[in-house]
Amino acid sequence: MRAKIKASFECSKCGAAYAKWAGQCTSCGEWNSVVEISKAGRAGESLKRLSDVLDIDELQRIPTEIAYLDRILGGGLPRGTAVLLAGEPGIGKSTLLFHMLLRQKATAVYVSAEESVEQVAQRFKVLEKPKSAELFLVSENRVEKILELMDQHKPQVMVLDSIQMTLSETMERSRGGAAAIRDISEALVSKAKQLGITFWLVGHVTKDGEIAGPKMLEHLVDTVVTFSMAEDHRLRILQAQKNRYGRSGEVVLLEMSDKGLQESEAWNSFWVEREGQSISGCALTTTLLGSRIACVEIQALVVDSYFPSPKRSATGFDHNRLHLILAVLEKRLKIPFSKQDVYLNVVGGLRISDPGVDLAVAAALVSAHSETPVPKGSVFSGELGLTGELRLMSVLDDRLRFAEQMQLKIFVGPKAPSAKHSSKISYKPCSTVAEALSMLF
Ligand code: TYD
Ligand code: MG
Repeated sequence: MRAKIKASFECSKCGAAYAKWAGQCTSCGEWNSVVEISKAGRAGESLKRLSDVLDIDELQRIPTEIAYLDRILGGGLPRGTAVLLAGEPGIGKSTLLFHMLLRQKATAVYVSAEESVEQVAQRFKVLEKPKSAELFLVSENRVEKILELMDQHKPQVMVLDSIQMTLSETMERSRGGAAAIRDISEALVSKAKQLGITFWLVGHVTKDGEIAGPKMLEHLVDTVVTFSMAEDHRLRILQAQKNRYGRSGEVVLLEMSDKGLQESEAWNSFWVEREGQSISGCALTTTLLGSRIACVEIQALVVDSYFPSPKRSATGFDHNRLHLILAVLEKRLKIPFSKQDVYLNVVGGLRISDPGVDLAVAAALVSAHSETPVPKGSVFSGELGLTGELRLMSVLDDRLRFAEQMQLKIFVGPKAPSAKHSSKISYKPCSTVAEALSMLF
């Protein structure tokens, strides 16, 4: 007969009772479903009055104390937030997080699944002196032990470096496989939420951007920050791709030196490949990167295809959007792309999702196809509709002002009666993509 246990924990999935907490329910096999009964609560107890919740100090954000990181996160991270920092091996993910750990004041634990504590300390001692005495290091790659550490120490901030090197001794799925990585991350993130730990997950991505692991982790976390190499190899681009508690798309340009990472001053000129401008297949555009405007160059290459279904490749731009723009050009401008391979690239290693760059993508494609360079000093902005009409994009006046600052001369955009600009730049309002690109064919 089973002894009656004094249950203060239970599985929130199957209801099995436990005297103490366990990482996995032995009855139904679910991970992290065992919770304290008072916390699991009964329906009535878990109701919270909205006005009481609103009274609590907004999100109790913990600043990272690094100005650029706080800026892309929207001013520190709320308690219990899970963040994925994704980037290629060697880009500087560990360095960046170490800067943060050394500077911020909260109690923090850095879990290295890749190196010994001594190796970590030696490698990062060049960066800066620690501000907080409450920074702890541990070398551990078993998820069960990491979950225990979280329970025992309940730090305010925890970094796990990296998720790919973390494994489980008890989870069933195959080691190192995508499903195992997801299970491990799920267990860690839900534990962090339960304990209010701000949790950073480091994820390695492969060279071609195909993310082995991190892509499927994106929906598990609140915030995704990507770290990528710029064409100038000293420079790095840090971008908030998803941000539940702040603005997404915010970008920071960083420079790697022998004392770690600093913000770079090269913002204005960085996104444009100067020589590119009189070559066919290049077009400039303005885009909004979070809160800042940048002038970005789009490059296209269009060549006869030898494949039964022609190749379409987009780097830094949405693949489906490229297909759509090609279809609009094919239909409305009668340009036959269907027997040609198309390659599209956003200069600088940036990823953009602003619909306002559609017209520049179209300009680069048509220019590449007709082998006609776009006029020097011109910039293209506008959203493309399925009928080929040009739609107004956000913050037109700011874009115009920035293009002026960049000493550009012609701004091709949608009809906008209220567009404000000085005499230094001429605004060419167009109602369709055919009208906007008429100089190219
Ligand atoms: P690292 O943060 O280890 O990359 P990741 O965690 O993304 O794999 O940093 C990788 C590179 O950065 C490494 O080649 C050494 C270089 N580096 C510097 O140039 N300066 C520095 O101050 C530090 C700490 C590293
Ligand atoms: Mg590393």
